[in-house]
Amino acid sequence: MVVVPLGGGEQGFAATDLRKLLPALFHREVDCQFSTDSRIIASSRKDLPREDFVAFVRQALEEHLPGDIDAEAWGRFAERLHHHRQDVTSDTGWDSLHDTLSGDDDRIRVFYLAMLPSLYGPTATHLAQAGLVNEGARIVLEKPVGQDFDSARRINDEVGEVFEESNIYRIDHYLGKETVQNLMALRFANSLVEPLWRRGAIDHVQITVAENLGAGERAAFYDRTGTLRDMVQNHMLQLLCLVAMEAPASLDHRDIRGEKIKVLRALRPITPDSVRQVTVRGQYTSGAIDGKVVPGYREELGEERDSETETFVAIKAEVDNWRWADTPFYLRSGKRLAGKSSEIVVQFRPIAHSIFRAESGVPEPNRMTIRLQPDEGVELSMVTKVPGPGHFKLRALPLNLSFSDTYDKRYPDAYERLLMEVLLGAPALFMHRDEVESAWNWIDGIIDSWAAREMTAQPYVSGTWGHTDAVRLLDRDGREWCQPHV
Ligand code: BG6
Repeated sequence: MVVVPLGGGEQGFAATDLRKLLPALFHREVDCQFSTDSRIIASSRKDLPREDFVAFVRQALEEHLPGDIDAEAWGRFAERLHHHRQDVTSDTGWDSLHDTLSGDDDRIRVFYLAMLPSLYGPTATHLAQAGLVNEGARIVLEKPVGQDFDSARRINDEVGEVFEESNIYRIDHYLGKETVQNLMALRFANSLVEPLWRRGAIDHVQITVAENLGAGERAAFYDRTGTLRDMVQNHMLQLLCLVAMEAPASLDHRDIRGEKIKVLRALRPITPDSVRQVTVRGQYTSGAIDGKVVPGYREELGEERDSETETFVAIKAEVDNWRWADTPFYLRSGKRLAGKSSEIVVQFRPIAHSIFRAESGVPEPNRMTIRLQPDEGVELSMVTKVPGPGHFKLRALPLNLSFSDTYDKRYPDAYERLLMEVLLGAPALFMHRDEVESAWNWIDGIIDSWAAREMTAQPYVSGTWGHTDAVRLLDRDGREWCQPHV
């Protein structure tokens, strides 16, 4: 098996390579999951002697992995590491990559493309022209695939000219997170859940993916992307699909994908007439996080720019089908918010009739909170009687399932799982082109409507929960956001 991450530019490697990919590969090494002669060949435009590359990887691991680096595993890992100089925009140099790989013709080759999505197609073509795409070859594409429906379709067509769809692995790392996978178990392995998982019992669903970090060094990239494309088009819509989809016939990737696509197609289009009512667009200004002053987004861009890019989005999404009619999904995501937290809140309807006296208090509707991060787990609020004679006071208390308390094992990072799935040839945790294109179709409606109504990103102060219009979005419906666990 040969792993060939292709990525990075003049400056070296993409941040994801350093923060996620290399540590993920190393963890798999620690667990002895590579065969003896597997190689990891990184590629960038730099002329990097092998020893320098190995030292560079060691430094990245020291920076991004907690605790000591296992010496034995490092010894094995370092042996696998190679660097190959390649400018992916150039027509030349590919033969020497071919030479590097010769002798490994029968082995699985994973081409991991961490680069501008517009280079995916040309790179796939170069790989094919250089005769590098053998029978076991797979290509991994980082999200976002494209900037809109048209560019996504173009990329999918170009890459599809070289690789069969079954050998194209479009990464959405949220699908590799343990708790996201747990959603399937929660919904389809617990008989009490399914009868309640519908409009009759559920009032609405909230999905929050909040970060306290800013765009920082990625500001230049981020400015071309924005939160809608960076987070909503992929991570948040995937979460929405997993909550809203019907039970697939099996865990086979074709069955799961089929159900997710039905949800994406049932999303009510957002139009210029509805966009102001159902979306919020914000951009952070300077503020304080953890007691420290942090710069605003425009300052981070490093030059005087009147950037209109959003760093915060809130959306009221409606899934127009029998299960979810009139049961909105409220989505919000942003950078430089009050904390890092990703969670899904399923808010049940109030009881139909209260038999309790006014002094007991009104029973709070049940609520299920699925915490994706931090402190992965599930919490279900249940109304109980406060102990003691002479009264019947009601109080909601949480039934709390904390995965870290229950399982003392380290969870493999999403990238570790996803990389192993690529090597095993298991595409269930990756996005099919139809999912990506259907998601863009809905997102394009929002982008076009923002443009049509000249809806620009409105400032919010760093360290808050985003623009206050997000509060109004729910308030108009007589609802409010739940405070995320941070
Ligand atoms: C990435 C986005 O896909 O997800 C980043 O491009 C974001 O902007 C990151 O910071 C968040 O991932 P996680 O796993 O830290 O929630």
